Amino acid sequence: MIRSVVRGNGAALPRRIMKNADFEGMVETSDEWIVQRTGIRQRHVAADDETTASLGEAAARAALDSAGMTPADIDLIILATSTPNNTFPATAVEIQNRLGMHHGFAFDMQAVCSGFVYAVATADLYIRGGLAKRVLVIGSETFSRILDWSDRSTCVLFGDGAGALVLEAEEGAGAITDRGVLAASLRSDGAHKDKLFVDGGPSTTGTVGHLRMEGREVFKHAVGMITDVIEATFGEAGITAQDLDWFVPHQANKRIIDASAKKLGIAEEKVVVTVDLHGNTSAASVPLALSVAVADGRIKKGDLVLLEAMGGGFTWGAVLLRW
Ligand SMILES: CC(C)(COP(=O)(O)OP(=O)(O)OC[C@H]1O[C@@H](n2cnc3c(N)ncnc32)[C@H](O)[C@@H]1OP(=O)(O)O)[C@@H](O)C(=O)NCCC(=O)NCCS
Repeated sequence: MIRSVVRGNGAALPRRIMKNADFEGMVETSDEWIVQRTGIRQRHVAADDETTASLGEAAARAALDSAGMTPADIDLIILATSTPNNTFPATAVEIQNRLGMHHGFAFDMQAVCSGFVYAVATADLYIRGGLAKRVLVIGSETFSRILDWSDRSTCVLFGDGAGALVLEAEEGAGAITDRGVLAASLRSDGAHKDKLFVDGGPSTTGTVGHLRMEGREVFKHAVGMITDVIEATFGEAGITAQDLDWFVPHQANKRIIDASAKKLGIAEEKVVVTVDLHGNTSAASVPLALSVAVADGRIKKGDLVLLEAMGGGFTWGAVLLRW
């Protein structure tokens, strides 16, 4: 059986770090409120010359370096983003060009904060279906460009950044001991579309728009949706929470992460938390968290890793893989 095995990973962050205290003169808020309600302490904010394409390119180059590969080795780029450089063409194609890659194919995937999980599951299908052998999966976002900086209930929550993985086809035994993607579950339900959305777009207002969110409503649904899709993934793989080495959840809010891990029975020391460093970077949050836990030596070859995300739509999903 063909498996999609992780060969390398990388990340890129904007130069500028914005601390919670930096909001204090802009909106009525405090470091204490933000830390207590969300766990966020700082986020990176892109300068004019830092875009979803430039951050995505930097993360992709880092992932290729760690895989010991060059763009010539890649035949597909999937970019998860909700903040593309342009309405079209796909920013994935721009990254392809920046990498000097003129073969293969590239496209964007739009599932907001669940984008990276959707993209890994999709890359795995392309690999197992024989349409690609080596795939760059990137999550890159510049949410700072779509925030309403006068709305304290949203502007403090998000940050910019990018992360990437290189996946490669490898023959596996079809067992849970194989390396690579082992199981995935994806969900969406558009009935919730007004709870977290951007109030503009090419076909409606003709503008880019700003992010709007009913935070309490999102919070109310998050833990149930996350735990349901993870339990479905455990069922598909025939494992339990005890078998996991690492849980790498979407980094939106420390309280949602803690409540989900507790409900699933995942020990606190197995949970990778980077929301304090990056805020919510939407589709970049899972690969950024992976990059931190790989760099500090926590995630190692052979570890069983669960990725999870939930976001606007609503969309939600989980991917189980052996690193
Ligand atoms: C946004 C969130 C942190 C707010 O926390 P909360 O405990 O639900 O807070 P509430 O929305 O009930 O607001 C409580 C009060 O804090 C205020 N408040 C909101 N943002 C604030 C801020 N940045 N600083 C200070 N006060 C703030 C609200 O106006 C409200 O005041 P009121 O009671 O006078 O109306 C929380 O709802 C949340 O994390 N939701 C999920 C968001 C998320 O993860 N989205 C992304 C999913 S991909």
